[in-house]
Amino acid sequence: MSQDSPERPSVPLELPGPSLLQQKAPLFEQLQDCARRTTAPFHTPGHKAGQGMDASLVDAWGEAMLRADLPELPELDNLFAPSGVIAEAQVLAAQAFGAEQTWFLTNGSTAGILAAILATCGPGDAILLPRTVHCSVVSGLILSGARPVFVAPAYDALSGLVGGLAAADVAQVLEQHADIRAVMLVAPSYEGICGETGAIAHLCHGRGIPLLVDEAHGPHFGFHSDLPPRALSLGADLAVQSTHKVLSALTQAAMVHVRGELVDRDRLSQSLALVQSTSPNYLLLASLDLTRRQMATQGEQLMAQTLTLAWEARQRLSLLPGLWVVSLPDDLPGFTALDLTRLTVDVRGLGLSGFEADEWLCHHHGVIAELPSLTQLTFILSLGNRSADIDRLVSGLIELCEMAEGRNRIAPVKLPQFDDGVPEVACTPRQAFYAKQKVMGIEQAIGHAAAETVCPYPPGIPVLLPGEVVTVEAVAYLRQIQAQGGVISGCADETLATLRVLV
Ligand SMILES: Cc1ncc(COP(=O)(O)O)c(C=O)c1O
Repeated sequence: MSQDSPERPSVPLELPGPSLLQQKAPLFEQLQDCARRTTAPFHTPGHKAGQGMDASLVDAWGEAMLRADLPELPELDNLFAPSGVIAEAQVLAAQAFGAEQTWFLTNGSTAGILAAILATCGPGDAILLPRTVHCSVVSGLILSGARPVFVAPAYDALSGLVGGLAAADVAQVLEQHADIRAVMLVAPSYEGICGETGAIAHLCHGRGIPLLVDEAHGPHFGFHSDLPPRALSLGADLAVQSTHKVLSALTQAAMVHVRGELVDRDRLSQSLALVQSTSPNYLLLASLDLTRRQMATQGEQLMAQTLTLAWEARQRLSLLPGLWVVSLPDDLPGFTALDLTRLTVDVRGLGLSGFEADEWLCHHHGVIAELPSLTQLTFILSLGNRSADIDRLVSGLIELCEMAEGRNRIAPVKLPQFDDGVPEVACTPRQAFYAKQKVMGIEQAIGHAAAETVCPYPPGIPVLLPGEVVTVEAVAYLRQIQAQGGVISGCADETLATLRVLV
Protein backbone atom coordinates (compact mmCIF):
# COMPACT_ATOMS: atom_id res chain seq x y z
CA MET A 1 0.00 0.00 0.00
CA SER A 2 1.55 3.29 -1.01
CA GLN A 3 0.57 6.50 0.69
CA ASP A 4 2.36 8.71 -1.84
CA SER A 5 -0.83 10.64 -2.46
CA PRO A 6 -3.01 9.84 0.49
CA GLU A 7 -6.61 10.79 0.06
CA ARG A 8 -7.82 13.92 1.79
CA PRO A 9 -8.81 12.80 5.28
CA SER A 10 -12.48 12.36 5.95
CA VAL A 11 -14.04 14.81 8.39
CA PRO A 12 -16.75 13.25 10.55
CA LEU A 13 -20.05 14.99 9.91
CA GLU A 14 -21.58 13.82 13.11
CA LEU A 15 -19.69 13.24 16.31
CA PRO A 16 -20.53 9.98 18.01
CA GLY A 17 -22.22 10.85 21.31
CA PRO A 18 -19.59 10.36 24.00
CA SER A 19 -20.91 8.80 27.17
CA LEU A 20 -21.96 11.35 29.75
CA LEU A 21 -19.30 9.98 32.06
CA GLN A 22 -16.59 10.90 29.57
CA GLN A 23 -17.59 14.54 29.89
CA LYS A 24 -16.48 14.51 33.52
CA ALA A 25 -12.91 15.16 34.62
CA PRO A 26 -13.00 13.82 38.19
CA LEU A 27 -9.35 14.28 39.03
CA PHE A 28 -9.05 17.78 37.56
CA GLU A 29 -12.33 18.88 39.18
CA GLN A 30 -11.28 17.60 42.61
CA LEU A 31 -7.85 19.21 42.28
CA GLN A 32 -9.49 22.54 41.44
CA ASP A 33 -11.78 22.23 44.49
CA CYS A 34 -8.75 21.68 46.70
CA ALA A 35 -6.84 24.52 45.03
CA ARG A 36 -9.68 26.98 45.70
CA ARG A 37 -9.86 26.15 49.41
CA THR A 38 -8.18 28.46 51.91
CA THR A 39 -6.27 26.33 54.41
CA ALA A 40 -3.37 26.59 56.82
CA PRO A 41 -1.08 24.28 54.85
CA PHE A 42 1.40 22.27 56.92
CA HIS A 43 2.15 19.82 54.14
CA THR A 44 4.39 19.64 51.07
CA PRO A 45 5.25 21.29 48.71
CA GLY A 46 7.22 23.95 50.55
CA HIS A 47 5.98 26.89 48.47
CA LYS A 48 2.47 26.42 50.05
CA ALA A 49 0.19 27.33 47.15
CA GLY A 50 2.74 29.80 45.83
CA GLN A 51 3.00 31.93 49.02
CA GLY A 52 6.66 31.10 49.47
CA MET A 53 7.51 30.95 45.80
CA ASP A 54 9.98 33.31 44.15
CA ALA A 55 7.89 36.24 42.88
CA SER A 56 9.29 35.99 39.33
CA LEU A 57 7.87 32.53 38.99
CA VAL A 58 4.48 33.59 40.38
CA ASP A 59 4.43 36.50 37.91
CA ALA A 60 5.42 34.32 35.00
CA TRP A 61 3.24 31.27 35.63
CA GLY A 62 0.38 32.63 37.70
CA GLU A 63 -0.97 31.89 41.12
CA ALA A 64 -3.70 29.51 39.93
CA MET A 65 -1.20 26.97 38.72
CA LEU A 66 0.77 27.12 41.97
CA ARG A 67 -2.36 26.70 44.07
CA ALA A 68 -3.00 23.45 42.19
CA ASP A 69 0.50 22.13 42.85
CA LEU A 70 -0.69 19.93 45.71
CA PRO A 71 0.44 16.66 47.26
CA GLU A 72 -1.54 13.47 47.85
CA LEU A 73 -4.20 15.01 50.11
CA PRO A 74 -6.91 12.54 51.19
CA GLU A 75 -9.41 13.97 48.63
CA LEU A 76 -6.83 13.60 45.87
CA ASP A 77 -6.35 9.83 46.15
CA ASN A 78 -3.05 7.98 45.88
CA LEU A 79 -1.42 7.11 42.57
CA PHE A 80 0.03 3.88 43.96
CA ALA A 81 -3.15 2.63 45.67
CA PRO A 82 -5.93 4.44 43.82
CA SER A 83 -9.47 4.16 45.12
CA GLY A 84 -10.89 7.68 44.61
CA VAL A 85 -10.58 10.30 41.89
CA ILE A 86 -7.40 8.82 40.37
CA ALA A 87 -9.06 5.40 40.13
CA GLU A 88 -12.11 7.02 38.52
CA ALA A 89 -9.99 9.00 36.06
CA GLN A 90 -7.99 5.90 35.12
CA VAL A 91 -11.17 3.90 34.46
CA LEU A 92 -12.40 6.64 32.12
CA ALA A 93 -9.01 6.68 30.39
CA ALA A 94 -9.09 2.91 29.92
CA GLN A 95 -12.51 3.24 28.24
CA ALA A 96 -11.36 6.09 26.00
CA PHE A 97 -8.08 4.45 24.94
CA GLY A 98 -9.52 0.96 24.34
CA ALA A 99 -7.91 -0.72 27.37
CA GLU A 100 -9.18 -2.88 30.20
CA GLN A 101 -6.99 -1.07 32.71
CA THR A 102 -4.93 2.12 32.54
CA TRP A 103 -2.27 3.57 34.82
CA PHE A 104 -1.29 7.26 34.77
CA LEU A 105 2.45 7.96 34.62
CA THR A 106 4.28 11.07 35.77
CA ASN A 107 7.67 10.06 34.43
CA GLY A 108 6.85 9.68 30.78
CA SER A 109 6.70 6.51 28.73
CA THR A 110 10.11 5.85 30.19
CA ALA A 111 8.45 4.78 33.47
CA GLY A 112 5.91 2.63 31.63
CA ILE A 113 8.60 0.89 29.61
CA LEU A 114 10.75 0.18 32.66
CA ALA A 115 7.74 -1.20 34.53
CA ALA A 116 6.54 -3.27 31.55
CA ILE A 117 9.91 -5.04 31.36
CA LEU A 118 10.24 -5.43 35.15
CA ALA A 119 6.72 -6.87 35.36
CA THR A 120 7.24 -9.47 32.64
CA CYS A 121 10.93 -10.48 32.78
CA GLY A 122 13.22 -11.45 35.63
CA PRO A 123 17.02 -11.71 35.66
CA GLY A 124 18.20 -13.92 32.81
CA ASP A 125 14.78 -14.13 31.11
CA ALA A 126 14.88 -13.64 27.36
CA ILE A 127 12.91 -10.83 25.73
CA LEU A 128 12.65 -10.37 21.95
CA LEU A 129 13.13 -6.80 20.76
CA PRO A 130 13.93 -4.81 17.62
CA ARG A 131 17.46 -3.40 17.74
CA THR A 132 15.92 0.06 17.27
CA VAL A 133 14.51 0.32 20.78
CA HIS A 134 14.54 3.62 22.67
CA CYS A 135 17.24 4.00 25.32
CA SER A 136 14.61 3.64 28.09
CA VAL A 137 14.30 -0.01 27.02
CA VAL A 138 18.02 -0.44 27.60
CA SER A 139 17.54 0.96 31.09
CA GLY A 140 14.74 -1.59 31.59
CA LEU A 141 17.10 -4.38 30.53
CA ILE A 142 19.75 -3.18 32.98
CA LEU A 143 17.28 -2.88 35.86
CA SER A 144 15.53 -6.20 35.25
CA GLY A 145 18.54 -8.24 34.14
CA ALA A 146 16.50 -9.49 31.18
CA ARG A 147 18.48 -10.93 28.29
CA PRO A 148 17.68 -9.17 25.00
CA VAL A 149 17.26 -11.21 21.85
CA PHE A 150 17.58 -8.46 19.28
CA VAL A 151 16.10 -8.75 15.82
CA ALA A 152 17.00 -6.42 12.95
CA PRO A 153 13.98 -4.36 11.92
CA ALA A 154 12.89 -3.91 8.32
CA TYR A 155 14.87 -1.31 6.43
CA ASP A 156 13.93 0.75 3.38
CA ALA A 157 17.16 1.44 1.52
CA LEU A 158 15.52 4.16 -0.60
CA SER A 159 14.50 6.41 2.27
CA GLY A 160 16.90 5.02 4.86
CA LEU A 161 13.92 4.58 7.17
CA VAL A 162 13.71 1.76 9.64
CA GLY A 163 10.38 -0.04 9.93
CA GLY A 164 9.00 -2.53 12.41
CA LEU A 165 9.87 -6.20 12.78
CA ALA A 166 8.67 -8.58 10.09
CA ALA A 167 6.42 -11.27 11.59
CA ALA A 168 8.33 -13.94 9.65
CA ASP A 169 11.57 -12.92 11.39
CA VAL A 170 9.87 -12.92 14.78
CA ALA A 171 8.42 -16.40 14.10
CA GLN A 172 11.88 -17.71 13.22
CA VAL A 173 13.52 -16.25 16.34
CA LEU A 174 10.72 -17.53 18.57
CA GLU A 175 11.34 -21.01 17.14
CA GLN A 176 15.07 -20.74 17.87
CA HIS A 177 14.61 -19.40 21.43
CA ALA A 178 11.90 -21.36 23.19
CA ASP A 179 12.73 -19.50 26.43
CA ILE A 180 11.55 -16.05 25.25
CA ARG A 181 9.23 -14.67 27.95
CA ALA A 182 7.94 -11.51 26.22
CA VAL A 183 8.15 -9.58 22.97
CA MET A 184 8.42 -5.80 22.87
CA LEU A 185 7.85 -3.76 19.71
CA VAL A 186 8.22 -0.07 18.89
CA ALA A 187 5.12 0.97 16.95
CA PRO A 188 4.98 3.58 15.62
CA SER A 189 8.58 4.58 15.07
CA TYR A 190 9.58 8.20 15.53
CA GLU A 191 8.76 8.72 11.84
CA GLY A 192 5.30 7.20 12.31
CA ILE A 193 5.90 3.77 10.78
CA CYS A 194 4.04 0.77 12.16
CA GLY A 195 5.11 -2.83 11.59
CA GLU A 196 3.28 -6.13 11.76
CA THR A 197 1.85 -5.79 15.26
CA GLY A 198 -1.28 -7.91 14.65
CA ALA A 199 0.59 -10.89 13.19
CA ILE A 200 3.23 -10.70 15.93
CA ALA A 201 0.52 -10.59 18.63
CA HIS A 202 -0.85 -13.79 17.12
CA LEU A 203 2.58 -15.46 17.29
CA CYS A 204 3.04 -14.36 20.92
CA HIS A 205 -0.35 -15.60 22.00
CA GLY A 206 0.29 -18.95 20.32
CA ARG A 207 3.14 -19.31 22.83
CA GLY A 208 1.30 -17.78 25.78
CA ILE A 209 3.69 -14.83 26.05
CA PRO A 210 2.72 -11.15 26.17
CA LEU A 211 3.26 -8.58 23.45
CA LEU A 212 4.35 -5.24 24.91
CA VAL A 213 4.28 -2.22 22.60
CA ASP A 214 6.22 1.00 22.97
CA GLU A 215 3.49 3.21 21.48
CA ALA A 216 5.08 6.39 22.85
CA HIS A 217 4.39 8.18 19.57
CA GLY A 218 0.86 6.82 19.04
CA PRO A 219 -1.50 8.00 21.81
CA HIS A 220 -3.74 9.53 19.11
CA PHE A 221 -4.16 6.24 17.23
CA GLY A 222 -7.68 4.90 17.08
CA PHE A 223 -9.35 8.31 17.32
CA HIS A 224 -9.77 8.60 13.52
CA SER A 225 -10.11 5.91 10.86
CA ASP A 226 -7.30 7.48 8.78
CA LEU A 227 -4.82 6.94 11.62
CA PRO A 228 -3.21 3.54 12.19
CA PRO A 229 -5.08 1.27 14.60
CA ARG A 230 -4.08 1.10 18.26
CA ALA A 231 -1.68 -1.65 19.29
CA LEU A 232 -4.22 -2.95 21.81
CA SER A 233 -6.86 -3.30 19.09
CA LEU A 234 -4.35 -5.40 17.10
CA GLY A 235 -3.88 -7.81 19.99
CA ALA A 236 -1.08 -6.23 22.06
CA ASP A 237 -1.32 -7.00 25.77
CA LEU A 238 0.27 -3.76 26.97
CA ALA A 239 0.86 -0.39 25.31
CA VAL A 240 2.81 2.55 26.69
CA GLN A 241 1.87 5.97 25.32
CA SER A 242 3.50 9.37 25.75
CA THR A 243 0.27 11.33 26.04
CA HIS A 244 2.42 14.44 26.32
CA LYS A 245 4.25 13.95 23.01
CA VAL A 246 1.29 14.11 20.66
CA LEU A 247 -1.85 14.95 22.66
CA SER A 248 -2.37 17.85 25.05
CA ALA A 249 -1.02 16.51 28.36
CA LEU A 250 1.86 18.28 30.08
CA THR A 251 5.41 17.09 29.42
CA GLN A 252 6.16 13.77 31.21
CA ALA A 253 2.46 12.84 31.53
CA ALA A 254 1.93 9.42 29.96
CA MET A 255 -0.17 6.27 30.28
CA VAL A 256 0.24 2.52 30.22
CA HIS A 257 -2.71 0.46 29.07
CA VAL A 258 -3.33 -3.27 29.49
CA ARG A 259 -5.75 -5.84 28.08
CA GLY A 260 -6.08 -9.56 28.74
CA GLU A 261 -4.44 -11.79 31.32
CA LEU A 262 -0.90 -12.22 30.00
CA VAL A 263 0.46 -9.24 31.92
CA ASP A 264 0.20 -9.61 35.70
CA ARG A 265 -1.46 -6.32 36.64
CA ASP A 266 -0.44 -6.41 40.30
CA ARG A 267 3.15 -6.91 39.28
CA LEU A 268 2.87 -4.00 36.86
CA SER A 269 1.53 -1.78 39.67
CA GLN A 270 4.42 -2.88 41.91
CA SER A 271 6.91 -2.21 39.15
CA LEU A 272 5.50 1.27 38.53
CA ALA A 273 5.95 2.03 42.21
CA LEU A 274 9.61 1.01 41.85
CA VAL A 275 10.35 3.49 39.09
CA GLN A 276 8.20 6.52 39.87
CA SER A 277 8.44 9.26 42.49
CA THR A 278 6.38 8.83 45.65
CA SER A 279 5.37 12.48 45.12
CA PRO A 280 3.58 12.40 41.77
CA ASN A 281 2.87 15.80 40.26
CA TYR A 282 -0.88 16.51 40.26
CA LEU A 283 -0.60 19.08 37.50
CA LEU A 284 0.61 16.27 35.26
CA LEU A 285 -2.05 13.85 36.49
CA ALA A 286 -4.84 16.41 36.03
CA SER A 287 -3.58 17.13 32.51
CA LEU A 288 -3.99 13.43 31.71
CA ASP A 289 -7.57 13.53 32.96
CA LEU A 290 -8.39 16.54 30.77
CA THR A 291 -6.61 15.11 27.74
CA ARG A 292 -8.69 11.96 28.09
CA ARG A 293 -11.89 14.06 28.28
CA GLN A 294 -10.82 16.11 25.27
CA MET A 295 -10.08 13.02 23.18
CA ALA A 296 -13.15 11.07 24.31
CA THR A 297 -15.47 13.93 23.48
CA GLN A 298 -13.76 15.64 20.51
CA GLY A 299 -10.97 13.26 19.48
CA GLU A 300 -12.29 12.34 16.06
CA GLN A 301 -12.90 15.95 15.07
CA LEU A 302 -9.51 17.09 16.39
CA MET A 303 -7.71 14.30 14.57
CA ALA A 304 -9.62 15.11 11.37
CA GLN A 305 -8.35 18.69 11.61
CA THR A 306 -4.79 17.55 12.26
CA LEU A 307 -4.89 15.07 9.40
CA THR A 308 -6.23 17.76 7.08
CA LEU A 309 -3.38 20.11 8.00
CA ALA A 310 -0.87 17.30 7.52
CA TRP A 311 -2.41 16.39 4.17
CA GLU A 312 -2.21 20.00 2.97
CA ALA A 313 1.41 20.29 4.12
CA ARG A 314 2.27 17.02 2.36
CA GLN A 315 0.65 18.18 -0.89
CA ARG A 316 2.38 21.57 -0.84
CA LEU A 317 5.80 20.23 0.11
CA SER A 318 5.71 17.48 -2.49
CA LEU A 319 5.71 20.19 -5.19
CA LEU A 320 9.11 21.54 -4.08
CA PRO A 321 12.05 20.35 -6.22
CA GLY A 322 14.84 18.75 -4.22
CA LEU A 323 12.61 17.79 -1.31
CA TRP A 324 11.09 14.38 -0.83
CA VAL A 325 8.23 13.90 1.61
CA VAL A 326 8.81 10.30 2.55
CA SER A 327 5.93 7.87 2.07
CA LEU A 328 5.30 4.29 3.04
CA PRO A 329 7.31 1.92 0.81
CA ASP A 330 5.26 -0.53 -1.24
CA ASP A 331 5.03 -4.16 -0.14
CA LEU A 332 7.94 -4.16 2.28
CA PRO A 333 7.50 -6.46 5.29
CA GLY A 334 7.67 -4.46 8.52
CA PHE A 335 6.11 -1.37 6.90
CA THR A 336 2.35 -1.78 7.25
CA ALA A 337 1.10 1.71 8.07
CA LEU A 338 2.26 5.30 8.30
CA ASP A 339 0.91 7.91 10.70
CA LEU A 340 0.16 10.70 8.24
CA THR A 341 0.45 13.33 10.97
CA ARG A 342 4.22 12.74 10.86
CA LEU A 343 6.00 14.47 8.01
CA THR A 344 9.47 13.21 7.23
CA VAL A 345 11.17 15.38 4.65
CA ASP A 346 14.33 14.09 2.99
CA VAL A 347 16.72 16.96 2.17
CA ARG A 348 19.51 15.01 0.48
CA GLY A 349 18.38 16.42 -2.86
CA LEU A 350 19.23 19.92 -1.62
CA GLY A 351 22.80 18.92 -0.82
CA LEU A 352 22.15 19.55 2.88
CA SER A 353 22.11 17.31 5.91
CA GLY A 354 19.00 17.22 8.08
CA PHE A 355 20.99 18.96 10.82
CA GLU A 356 22.01 21.84 8.51
CA ALA A 357 18.45 22.23 7.22
CA ASP A 358 17.14 22.19 10.80
CA GLU A 359 19.50 24.89 11.95
CA TRP A 360 18.71 27.09 8.95
CA LEU A 361 14.93 26.69 9.34
CA CYS A 362 15.06 27.43 13.04
CA HIS A 363 17.36 30.43 12.64
CA HIS A 364 15.63 32.04 9.65
CA HIS A 365 11.99 31.03 10.14
CA GLY A 366 11.56 29.84 13.71
CA VAL A 367 10.40 26.52 12.27
CA ILE A 368 11.46 23.81 14.71
CA ALA A 369 11.46 20.18 13.66
CA GLU A 370 11.12 17.34 16.15
CA LEU A 371 13.83 15.13 14.73
CA PRO A 372 16.71 16.15 12.50
CA SER A 373 18.87 13.32 11.20
CA LEU A 374 21.74 13.03 8.73
CA THR A 375 19.39 13.08 5.76
CA GLN A 376 15.93 14.08 6.98
CA LEU A 377 13.75 16.23 9.18
CA THR A 378 10.70 14.80 10.92
CA PHE A 379 7.92 17.21 11.89
CA ILE A 380 5.22 16.24 14.40
CA LEU A 381 1.81 17.69 13.54
CA SER A 382 -0.69 17.53 16.35
CA LEU A 383 -3.99 18.96 17.57
CA GLY A 384 -2.01 22.02 18.68
CA ASN A 385 -0.94 23.06 15.17
CA ARG A 386 -2.79 25.70 13.15
CA SER A 387 -2.74 26.50 9.44
CA ALA A 388 -0.40 29.45 10.11
CA ASP A 389 2.19 26.91 11.30
CA ILE A 390 1.84 25.01 8.03
CA ASP A 391 2.24 28.23 6.01
CA ARG A 392 5.41 29.02 7.95
CA LEU A 393 6.75 25.49 7.44
CA VAL A 394 6.06 25.60 3.70
CA SER A 395 7.49 29.08 3.17
CA GLY A 396 10.53 28.16 5.24
CA LEU A 397 11.16 25.10 3.12
CA ILE A 398 10.58 27.05 -0.12
CA GLU A 399 13.31 29.48 0.93
CA LEU A 400 15.53 26.63 2.05
CA CYS A 401 15.25 25.14 -1.46
CA GLU A 402 16.16 28.52 -3.00
CA MET A 403 19.08 28.97 -0.62
CA ALA A 404 20.45 25.51 -1.44
CA GLU A 405 20.13 25.82 -5.23
CA GLY A 406 23.14 24.47 -7.15
CA ARG A 407 24.44 22.19 -4.39
CA ASN A 408 25.22 18.56 -5.11
CA ARG A 409 22.92 15.87 -3.84
CA ILE A 410 24.16 14.03 -0.74
CA ALA A 411 24.80 10.31 -1.08
CA PRO A 412 22.60 7.89 0.88
CA VAL A 413 23.78 7.25 4.43
CA LYS A 414 23.98 3.66 5.55
CA LEU A 415 22.93 2.93 9.12
CA PRO A 416 25.61 0.47 10.19
CA GLN A 417 23.81 -1.32 12.93
CA PHE A 418 20.46 -2.08 11.36
CA ASP A 419 20.53 -3.24 7.78
CA ASP A 420 23.34 -5.81 8.15
CA GLY A 421 21.66 -7.64 11.00
CA VAL A 422 22.20 -7.05 14.69
CA PRO A 423 25.67 -6.42 16.14
CA GLU A 424 27.64 -9.02 18.06
CA VAL A 425 27.16 -8.94 21.82
CA ALA A 426 29.62 -10.00 24.52
CA CYS A 427 27.20 -9.94 27.47
CA THR A 428 23.83 -8.55 28.57
CA PRO A 429 23.39 -4.82 29.23
CA ARG A 430 23.11 -5.52 32.98
CA GLN A 431 26.30 -7.61 33.06
CA ALA A 432 28.09 -4.83 31.18
CA PHE A 433 26.71 -2.20 33.54
CA TYR A 434 28.11 -3.98 36.60
CA ALA A 435 31.32 -5.33 35.01
CA LYS A 436 34.80 -3.88 35.45
CA GLN A 437 35.28 -1.06 32.98
CA LYS A 438 38.03 1.10 31.61
CA VAL A 439 38.23 4.20 29.44
CA MET A 440 39.88 4.01 26.01
CA GLY A 441 40.26 6.23 22.98
CA ILE A 442 37.16 5.47 20.88
CA GLU A 443 39.18 4.26 17.87
CA GLN A 444 41.12 1.83 20.10
CA ALA A 445 37.79 0.66 21.53
CA ILE A 446 36.80 -0.96 18.22
CA GLY A 447 36.55 -4.71 18.79
CA HIS A 448 35.96 -4.27 22.56
CA ALA A 449 32.58 -4.56 24.27
CA ALA A 450 31.04 -1.17 25.07
CA ALA A 451 30.20 -0.50 28.72
CA GLU A 452 27.81 2.37 28.06
CA THR A 453 24.95 3.45 25.84
CA VAL A 454 25.91 5.81 23.02
CA CYS A 455 22.90 7.45 21.56
CA PRO A 456 22.15 10.29 19.15
CA TYR A 457 19.31 12.25 20.82
CA PRO A 458 16.77 12.60 19.38
CA PRO A 459 15.71 9.93 18.41
CA GLY A 460 17.24 8.18 21.43
CA ILE A 461 17.93 4.95 19.56
CA PRO A 462 21.34 3.74 20.79
CA VAL A 463 24.05 3.14 18.21
CA LEU A 464 26.04 1.27 20.87
CA LEU A 465 24.61 -0.65 23.79
CA PRO A 466 26.35 -1.84 26.95
CA GLY A 467 27.75 -5.28 26.16
CA GLU A 468 27.75 -4.77 22.39
CA VAL A 469 30.99 -5.06 20.40
CA VAL A 470 32.12 -1.69 19.00
CA THR A 471 32.45 -1.70 15.22
CA VAL A 472 34.26 0.56 12.75
CA GLU A 473 30.91 1.36 11.15
CA ALA A 474 29.27 2.37 14.43
CA VAL A 475 32.13 4.74 15.28
CA ALA A 476 32.13 6.24 11.78
CA TYR A 477 28.37 6.77 11.94
CA LEU A 478 28.56 8.47 15.34
CA ARG A 479 31.38 10.69 14.13
CA GLN A 480 29.33 11.67 11.10
CA ILE A 481 26.35 12.63 13.27
CA GLN A 482 28.62 14.59 15.56
CA ALA A 483 30.31 16.39 12.66
CA GLN A 484 26.92 17.50 11.35
CA GLY A 485 25.90 18.97 14.69
CA GLY A 486 23.84 16.08 16.11
CA VAL A 487 23.76 15.60 19.88
CA ILE A 488 25.25 12.41 21.31
CA SER A 489 24.08 11.37 24.76
CA GLY A 490 24.14 8.46 27.19
CA CYS A 491 27.92 8.17 27.41
CA ALA A 492 30.31 9.76 29.89
CA ASP A 493 32.37 11.51 27.20
CA GLU A 494 29.91 13.13 24.82
CA THR A 495 32.78 14.46 22.66
CA LEU A 496 33.40 10.79 21.77
CA ALA A 497 37.16 11.16 22.23
CA THR A 498 36.92 8.23 24.64
CA LEU A 499 34.56 5.38 25.40
CA ARG A 500 34.01 3.17 28.45
CA VAL A 501 34.58 -0.46 27.55
CA LEU A 502 34.61 -3.73 29.45
CA VAL A 503 37.95 -4.86 30.88
C1 LIG B 1 10.10 5.41 20.84
C2 LIG B 1 10.17 6.06 22.18
N1 LIG B 1 9.87 5.35 23.27
C3 LIG B 1 9.90 5.88 24.51
C4 LIG B 1 10.27 7.18 24.71
C5 LIG B 1 10.29 7.75 26.10
O1 LIG B 1 9.19 8.59 26.25
P1 LIG B 1 9.09 9.70 27.40
O2 LIG B 1 9.89 10.87 26.92
O3 LIG B 1 7.62 9.98 27.47
O4 LIG B 1 9.62 9.11 28.65
C6 LIG B 1 10.60 7.98 23.59
C7 LIG B 1 11.01 9.38 23.77
O5 LIG B 1 11.36 10.07 22.87
C8 LIG B 1 10.55 7.40 22.30
O6 LIG B 1 10.87 8.11 21.21
